[in-house]
Amino acid sequence: MSRDFDVILWGATGFTGRLVAEYLNETYGVGKDVRWAIAGRNVNKLEALRTELTARNPDAAGLDIIRGDSHDAQSLHQMAARASVICTTVGPYAKYGSKLVAACVAEGTDYCDLTGETPWIQDMIEQHHEGAKEKGCRIVHCCGFDSIPSDMGTHFLQREAKREHGAPLDTIGFYLGKSKGGVSGGTVASMLNIASNIKDPKIRKALMDPYALNPKGERSGPDGRDQMGVQWDEDAQVWTGPFVMASINTRIVRRSNALTDYAYGRDFRYKEVTSRPKGARNYAISQQLAVGQNIFLALAAVGPVRKLMQATILPDPGEGPDEHARVHGYFNIRFVGQGKDRSGNPVKMEARVSGDRDPGYGSTSKMLAESALCLALDKDKLPEQAGVLTPASAMGDALLDRLPTAGLSFSLG
Ligand SMILES: NC(=O)c1ccc[n+]([C@@H]2O[C@H](COP(=O)([O-])OP(=O)(O)OC[C@H]3O[C@@H](n4cnc5c(N)ncnc54)[C@H](OP(=O)(O)O)[C@@H]3O)[C@@H](O)[C@H]2O)c1
Repeated sequence: MSRDFDVILWGATGFTGRLVAEYLNETYGVGKDVRWAIAGRNVNKLEALRTELTARNPDAAGLDIIRGDSHDAQSLHQMAARASVICTTVGPYAKYGSKLVAACVAEGTDYCDLTGETPWIQDMIEQHHEGAKEKGCRIVHCCGFDSIPSDMGTHFLQREAKREHGAPLDTIGFYLGKSKGGVSGGTVASMLNIASNIKDPKIRKALMDPYALNPKGERSGPDGRDQMGVQWDEDAQVWTGPFVMASINTRIVRRSNALTDYAYGRDFRYKEVTSRPKGARNYAISQQLAVGQNIFLALAAVGPVRKLMQATILPDPGEGPDEHARVHGYFNIRFVGQGKDRSGNPVKMEARVSGDRDPGYGSTSKMLAESALCLALDKDKLPEQAGVLTPASAMGDALLDRLPTAGLSFSLG
């Protein structure tokens, strides 16, 4: 089907959307290899962004601008009908994203986003998985730091395990090592939006259930709740603590397994933790970080405290880490897997995934852009999948091939 654009970037005027636009402009140009356009609710802001992009690359003067407002379903349908892929950074997604997903499914348009909002993704699966399958389109959530390193790192290690040992690994642990980054107002707004609805039993259940994003009837398995405290880990020989994004990333990895007919095995176990090397000082730091995270989450659930934090210490929508922080940021993740080879002998494998910018913005914007391009331009390399998908189930090796361009590296050992 011929469409006007390969990719329309909706939310281009936001903090992260602007970074995606800059990346596309500087890496792929305008009107050359990729036909892309910028979209949002405010045409004046979009014109100002186009002027800024043109200062870096004169071709950006030819960038098309499309108006789309989350409260105007017709504008979203018109936008979705013009592109192969809608790439959206308009969040909180639970507030502004549902009508766009419906429009993309109705128009048979592929879609990718940056949400990490588990209850909303569960809603989208329930409302649209079957419809998207019928239309043959791919709705792909979580194409940023949550959950590409987790999902694609696991896909990578399992692929290598199958090549080397003829079978996938039975367990994989994700250990976040040295990393540096910050948060934006949009991310804070998304976290606080979930916290403000925490009393809703359906939302609580979606947040607590380790298999919340598996297909209905398949929401059980060997994994339990995410780690809350500090523990010594024998497999990785490190101190481990809770990782705030485990509550979305682990659900995405488990959904990838379910959607690929349990390519990692029905009994596959997966966990995510932060890690520090052995030593009393590192144990103490891990304890402090775990307590700090748990206090923050507990306070964010209390309405008046949440509002006070929002008004005083947390960034507003449109704000986020500055260029210096993004460029000097980075992340390092170690994956440790255990399983058995063809003869039933125990095997242990490790992989490393790292990124060359701060995880949440510098790296995330590049991961999202490459996901959109993968959906739009690599169609003949994509797995035969349609529905509400995950990065690994929707794009598999084709995305793995693109991520080095986004500054990510995947290696064994
Ligand atoms: N998964 C990850 O790793 C990751 C990383 C970064 C961000 N995120 C998520 O990405 C989202 C965006 O974050 P951000 O910091 O970029 O947020 P932001 O700066 O607040 O940007 C939000 C964007 O949404 C637009 N918008 C708001 N209401 C709209 C409406 N009614 N119709 C159309 N557009 C509307 C805004 O338009 P205006 O410019 O006109 O106000 C802006 O372009 C958040 O949900 C955040 O959690 C996820």
